[in-house]
Amino acid sequence: MRRIAVINQKGGVGKTTTTVNLAAALAAAGKRVCVLDLDPQAHASTHLGAEPDGKTPSLYDVLVASTPLATVRREVAPNLTLCPSSIDLAAAEVELAGIVGREVILREALAADGEPFDYVLMDCGPSLGVLTLNALAAADEVFIPLQPHFFALHGLSKLLETTALVARRINPGVKVSGIVICLYDAATKLAQEVVTDLNGFLAQSRAANVPWAGAKVFDTRIRRNVKLAECPSYGKSIFAYAPRSPGAADYAALANEVLGVAPPVVVGPLKVAVETPAAVVEAAAVVMPVEAVEARMAGELPAVA
Ligand SMILES: Nc1ncnc2c1ncn2[C@@H]1O[C@H](COP(=O)(O)OP(=O)(O)O)[C@@H](O)[C@H]1O
Ligand SMILES: [Mg+2]
Repeated sequence: MRRIAVINQKGGVGKTTTTVNLAAALAAAGKRVCVLDLDPQAHASTHLGAEPDGKTPSLYDVLVASTPLATVRREVAPNLTLCPSSIDLAAAEVELAGIVGREVILREALAADGEPFDYVLMDCGPSLGVLTLNALAAADEVFIPLQPHFFALHGLSKLLETTALVARRINPGVKVSGIVICLYDAATKLAQEVVTDLNGFLAQSRAANVPWAGAKVFDTRIRRNVKLAECPSYGKSIFAYAPRSPGAADYAALANEVLGVAPPVVVGPLKVAVETPAAVVEAAAVVMPVEAVEARMAGELPAVA
């Protein structure tokens, strides 16, 4: 079983879109997949066609009332199971405040659960609070979706520090395994520069004793594609909503990278897009001199949506 937390404390970077569509692609490839929706906004639940009704048991019950995962999960597609969120999760932070071991409740619930999933994907909200800490404590791996604009790299250091803290205190095995470039616009030079900077930063960390020492930027870039923005409101994955779209091709390609499969498994009647491979690794520092930052912002930022 691979337990993957999909984390970035920034909102709108593609966490939910990645969790749901990667899960759907892995399920279509025959893997048994469980999505844990740890965001009180319940976007992943809605995206998977399970809009919260306020009555159905959710991960709130698992975290706060020790309800077993088996009670809250439900099958939403063949091979694809969801443990939904509810708005109540927003209160979990406060309700768990005095509880010893509150960061490891989810990990213990997963350990007590005998269901043999191949993949557990955890969609997190835009914070590094107790819900995200539960995901980090329960995960073997972290995927970080990133929207490639300049400030993307600023938030990253805080996120990486948090994974290092969790690794030191509660989950020594957790590794950041991949960065997923989302909302990619190949036409902008800045997007490519951000990827180059990222690769440079990761190259410098290879020998360090940090959870991201083995991380890579996935070769697959998730291009900006309006079909990906449309499908959540239909409660469908991109494969059910627009199987021939670039968005479906990109998430199928990402699933293949995650599976480590070559040549790619094709989900539906798709031709998997071939994107430019990750830029050649250069020793670019992620922290740039102020002049470089200013030059970059002045010259490039307006080109990015
Ligand atoms: N590749 C993409 N192309 C177009 N729209 C996207 C893409 N990825 C995400 N979106 C849209 O951008 C918004 C933010 O994405 P989302 O996955 O919800 O981010 P997060 O979970 O990090 O807040 C959503 O409206 C989503 O539908
Ligand atoms: Mg989200």
